Amino acid sequence: MDYDIRDRALASKGLLRIRWAESNMPVLGMIARRFAKERPLAGIRIAACLHVTTETANLMKTLKAGGAEVRLCASNPLSTQDDVAASLVVDDGIGVFAIRGIDSAGYYEHIRAALSFSPKITMDDGADLVFTIHSEMQDVAAGVIGGTEETTTGVIRLRSMAREGALRYPIIAVNDAMTKHLFDNRYGTGQSTIDGILRATNTLLAGSKVVIAGYGWCGRGLAARARGMGANVIITEIDPLKALEAVMEGFTVMPMDEAASVGDIFVTVTGNTSVIRKEHLVAMKDGAIVANSGHFNVEIDLEDLEKMKQSKQVVRDNVEEYVLKDGKRIRVLGEGRLINLAAAEGHPASVMDMSFANQALCIEYLVKSSQDLEPGVYTVPEEIDTDVARLKLEALGVKIDKLTDKQREYLASWRTGT
Ligand code: NAD
Ligand code: ADE
Repeated sequence: MDYDIRDRALASKGLLRIRWAESNMPVLGMIARRFAKERPLAGIRIAACLHVTTETANLMKTLKAGGAEVRLCASNPLSTQDDVAASLVVDDGIGVFAIRGIDSAGYYEHIRAALSFSPKITMDDGADLVFTIHSEMQDVAAGVIGGTEETTTGVIRLRSMAREGALRYPIIAVNDAMTKHLFDNRYGTGQSTIDGILRATNTLLAGSKVVIAGYGWCGRGLAARARGMGANVIITEIDPLKALEAVMEGFTVMPMDEAASVGDIFVTVTGNTSVIRKEHLVAMKDGAIVANSGHFNVEIDLEDLEKMKQSKQVVRDNVEEYVLKDGKRIRVLGEGRLINLAAAEGHPASVMDMSFANQALCIEYLVKSSQDLEPGVYTVPEEIDTDVARLKLEALGVKIDKLTDKQREYLASWRTGT
């Protein structure tokens, strides 16, 4: 078996942590047990490019239980948990290509390695795998029947490929399932981003001014959690509707040009580029903390900061302190990469349970139905989305009401009014 990981000796630690996550992933567990009986993925080769975490490990095991042959590479150079990678190789015989802290060339080498066994299905988090297949491994694309995409930024990239007619196979936008973005992006990113910032800095949020760029699904989760810990939250936005929602939620909204000199902690979650630029960095207070939780490390203009610096030093794990020519210090967390995965462990298992249940069920759906799908970006079938919500409620022991016949009839009719 081919693989490239940091150290096989880390496997036993990884296994314990994977089991810990498993105990909080009941929906994925139910799917894994059904897959083990029914083997719906027998003989299917899957190349996955996901954050190599304990939660992802449980997804990989589920696919393997369903009969798939899986290869896994990292979807971010800083998110890999080396002990998890080791356990997947040693305990499960899964080919993993991921080492935390790898450089850009090594990162793409790993993607190519994951693709080199002629997969029938691809799984992506950010679309780097799909991009690599389409730009330099087109012979591999010919054998792929379909794929899935985990995150907002990946879906945006894929829709752009589809618009240009460049996408060669169908891909299901798992991110767009209600049981994904309403929970993972909001509550998952909300909590784990705070977790990453606190693990990196041990700073006090109460009374601090936290500037959040982007009030989308991730941004609103993060804003709610930061407020819950006593921070004064300031939102920056470019979309009038989202900005208005933030205002109505009681947050202060202003442009980054104004927020730059006010904030103590800055977090970008826009999926956009150059959100914090030179003029903002110049205006920031001494000791400002700057982090990103959007998919790519392009939201903060770190090249500008490099040019402005007099010196730079790693002052704590995941904290680089830039000293500018006027002596001001700007503290950048996790090299501007997804701070929740770089400095913490990503979203807790309980929320990834739903995201990855969607992933597993969408892979099964693709195996059954991909021949009916043209190349393009597809939403998660509604039955899968509803099923995941139902199973999660069941696992949580929460019961809900059922429509009565009278109610069903009432909702379907237009004749009853005032
Ligand atoms: P979203 O589309 O719901 O929200 C993004 C928001 O940013 C939108 O409201 C948009 O108007 C706003 N925005 C765009 N440009 C801006 C700018 N220049 N200034 C201020 N606001 C701006 O997307 P989302 O689901 O919240 O995802 C946001 C990013 O986070 C994406 O890159 C996504 O892939 C990533 N993500 C990260 C994690 C994680 O684990 N850290 C999890 C899920 C998603
Ligand atoms: N994205 C955010 N959190 C994650 C996690 N724990 N595992 C995999 N992908 C993630």
